Parts: sequence; structure tokens; C-alpha cells
Amino acid sequence: MIPKLTVVGAGPGDPDLITLKAVKTIASADVILYDALVNKDLLDYASKHTELIFVGKRKGCYAYQQNQINEMIVERALRCGHVVRLKGGDPFIFGRGAEELEYAKDYAIEVAVVPGISSSSAVPAYQGIPLTKRNASESFWVITGTTKSHEISGDIALAAKSKATVVVLMGMGKLSEITRLFSAEGKSETPVAIIQNGTTDIEKVGIGTIDTIEAIVKEKQLASPAIIIIGEVVNERIDLSSMYEKANRVTRFSEPVLV
Ligand SMILES: C[S@@+](CC[C@H](N)C(=O)[O-])C[C@H]1O[C@@H](n2cnc3c(N)ncnc32)[C@H](O)[C@@H]1O
Repeated sequence: MIPKLTVVGAGPGDPDLITLKAVKTIASADVILYDALVNKDLLDYASKHTELIFVGKRKGCYAYQQNQINEMIVERALRCGHVVRLKGGDPFIFGRGAEELEYAKDYAIEVAVVPGISSSSAVPAYQGIPLTKRNASESFWVITGTTKSHEISGDIALAAKSKATVVVLMGMGKLSEITRLFSAEGKSETPVAIIQNGTTDIEKVGIGTIDTIEAIVKEKQLASPAIIIIGEVVNERIDLSSMYEKANRVTRFSEPVLV
């Protein structure tokens, strides 16, 4: 038995948005530690002997602290063999995947990563919003709304000065501050989209401008997990309703989440 940790991206919610490599890796796991934003259907790819451990947030509270998760990974890898750490989206985009790999490496545990489809690009795409488009946007920033110290990221003020598309994760609690920063740059009319539970059948969407988006969030009762997309590309939205008529998407996020 070789102790091993593979950090695997589970994609943004739609269970079909997972890579073949991730499916094969899940099937080979002895233990899976999974987060709240992982679609529970993906656990069906695991063998019936695999130990499944939920380590995400439950009713807004963490089931385990990060140091407990790190310790559990090492303990299970040494005792059971292959540990798969299954995380929403891509594990290297605001996923703390690198921290867990580093911790395991310190115990001489073999490590690997399987990238995932990040919510930052897939969620806008499912709403027909291209993050870049000729004449509308030459680049995009993906920024966390809330930093480790619970403050707004300083990068948002910098991004507000640019012409880039700005994608904010974990930003719902900082929406007022975000809109203030964009307004201060003369961007009150800039289009904004907020998408909650994107790529799933419980998806909710609000479209407005920097000036109107807070009222829309209130009216539609939009909340986390959601991404905020700010930029002219929101006006380039392509109508994908025919795609949704055909789709038969089933959502089973692991637990209700507040991220
Ligand atoms: C800790 S970050 C993890 C991001 C993840 N690693 C990724 O690449 O998508 C969690 C945040 O991602 C965003 N998010 C993840 N899945 C989402 C979804 N299906 N719909 C909307 N936002 C989502 C939300 O902003 C949520 O608060």
C-alpha cells in the first residue's frame, strides 16, 4: 500500500462537468473527503468500499477546521492508502488545494492533482456570458471578495480601474463595498450579473448595473454560493434557453452551503 493524496476538482455543480481523469481517480480512492460544493452524485463513481467523509460547511459552520482536514488526510493516507480530496470547481482556484498537497508532502505522502472546471468560467458560460469578447473585453480578473482576514480584497479596487471583466467569488457579503468601488471609478452604468448555484437546476440569476444590482439581489433574494460578473461582456449574453429546455440537470450539493 502506497500512501497517496490526490486533490481533485469536481467541477461547478452540474455532475457532467467533471473530467474523465477525475472520475477515474474517484473510482480508485480508498477514502474521499468532500466539500459542500461537490455534487453528491459524483460520489456514485466511488467503489462501495470507499470511506466517504463530508468535511464542508454545515448550516454555515465548518464541519472541520483546515488543520483537522490536513491531519485527517495524512492519517487516512498512511492507514488506508489513496485519499481523494474532492473539491468544488478547480482545487487551485480559491480551493486551498495547494496547502493540502504541501502538508501531505511533509509526511512523504505521494501527491497528485486533477484540475477541475472552475465556477469562475463555467458559471458565466452556462448563462451565455463570455468572459472575453472582441471589442468588449480583452482580459478577465478572478478575485476573492473576502480575504483571510474577512476584508475586501485590495485587488478589487485595482480591477475597478481597468477595462477587464471582473469575476468575484465569495463576494456576496461585500457587494455594497464592491459597487461603491466601481461607482467611484465612474462605472455606475457598468453591467453586472450575479449567478447563484450556477450550472445546477436551482440556479438563480440577477442582471443589472453597478447602480441597480443591490436592489435586484434583494428582490430576487440572491445569496451565496454565487459569483459576481462585472463588465461589458454581461451585455453580450447569448440566449441559451434552448440548451436548458433539452438539459436534464440534477443537483445534489452535499449540504446547504453558505460560502
Ligand atoms: C471557496 S470558493 C471555491 C471556488 C472553486 N474552487 C472553483 O474553482 O469554482 C467558493 C466560491 O466559489 C463560487 N462558486 C462555486 N460554485 C459555484 C456555483 N455553482 N455557482 C455560483 N458560484 C459558485 C462562490 O462564489 C463560492 O462562494
